[in-house]
Amino acid sequence: MITDIQKILIIGAGGQIGVELTAKLSEMYGSSNVVASDLKGASAFPNNPFEILDALDKKALFEIVKKHGITHVYHLAAMLSATGEQNPMFAWKLNMESLFNVLELAKEKHISRIFWPSSIAVFGPTTPTVGTPQYTIMEPSTVYGISKQAGERWCEWYFNKHNVDVRSIRYPGLIGWKSAPGGGTTDYAVHIFHEALKTGTYECFLNENTVLPMMHMEDAIKATIEIMHAPSEQIKIRSSYNLSGISFSPKEIANEIKKHIPGFSISYKPDFRQAIADSWPKSIVDKEAREHWGWSATYDIPKLVENMLDNLKKK
Ligand code: NAD
Ligand code: SER
Repeated sequence: MITDIQKILIIGAGGQIGVELTAKLSEMYGSSNVVASDLKGASAFPNNPFEILDALDKKALFEIVKKHGITHVYHLAAMLSATGEQNPMFAWKLNMESLFNVLELAKEKHISRIFWPSSIAVFGPTTPTVGTPQYTIMEPSTVYGISKQAGERWCEWYFNKHNVDVRSIRYPGLIGWKSAPGGGTTDYAVHIFHEALKTGTYECFLNENTVLPMMHMEDAIKATIEIMHAPSEQIKIRSSYNLSGISFSPKEIANEIKKHIPGFSISYKPDFRQAIADSWPKSIVDKEAREHWGWSATYDIPKLVENMLDNLKKK
């Protein structure tokens, strides 16, 4: 266990990333030093202090920060790409205002460090799709992507103007067995494993050749911990870092699953999420994250598929 003093608040702890990040940080710092918060769901965190918190309520956030002596905030609450397109005004409000609430608390020196995730959704249809670099054309076409891009600019602004120590990663689509995804375009890459084991078939909402950047959740958690623990001078990008894991299409991941479940079959019925996926990169170059704070991924496609199937079978 790490013994430096950190009191951590996770906002949106009940979500796909939050559940795993809360567990990892609790291992590192002790459960009593990691406060989980969400709109509901205390029962998911029997060992952690838990607070009901609407991230849009700045006063309630401030009170929780004071009550627990919070130093570090991981702000995960957001509306993701698919649900965001169905509720654009609220997606904008939630994604932007909740970020301002956290950034303002840091500006006022109530907290000392923030993690806020961005996404591959900051890129758009005019971005080069293969080997997308850190600095390139960024014209996102979803409300979610627009909010993440604006959020990145604000993070950099708060760092430059107010010395707010905010750190961010552009996560690719995340795949883990411990928690369910919450309304994204890359969610198929989690659902496919559950359905392969349960029914042996899966109807995919993206077409077979839609290649997207993806990552095993363990790698995403590793990156999150690493960027938050790197010395400040190594974090040279204060908007958000590109982060690369693996890239595959539904057909490629289905073929890898078939190596373990020979009878597995997949069909394709693209819906509105196809247009979102088509606007995103196929692969990401993360040279800066590697050079600045030593990032590297550990999962390739065979290892990810084996890990997902083995763990879901046990679960
Ligand atoms: P999720 O939808 O699974 O979880 C979000 C959590 O936030 C939920 O538990 C929800 O109840 C909570 N929440 C929603 N509104 C809230 C509010 N007003 N106040 C407090 N909590 C609220 O999302 P996730 O996949 O865990 O993503 C977390 C963050 O990572 C988001 O910012 C998302 O944009 C980003 N991200 C995720 C992925 C991915 O593949 N999962 C990829 C890129 C970026
Ligand atoms: N996985 C996320 C989504 O599909 C990307 O940010 O919305």
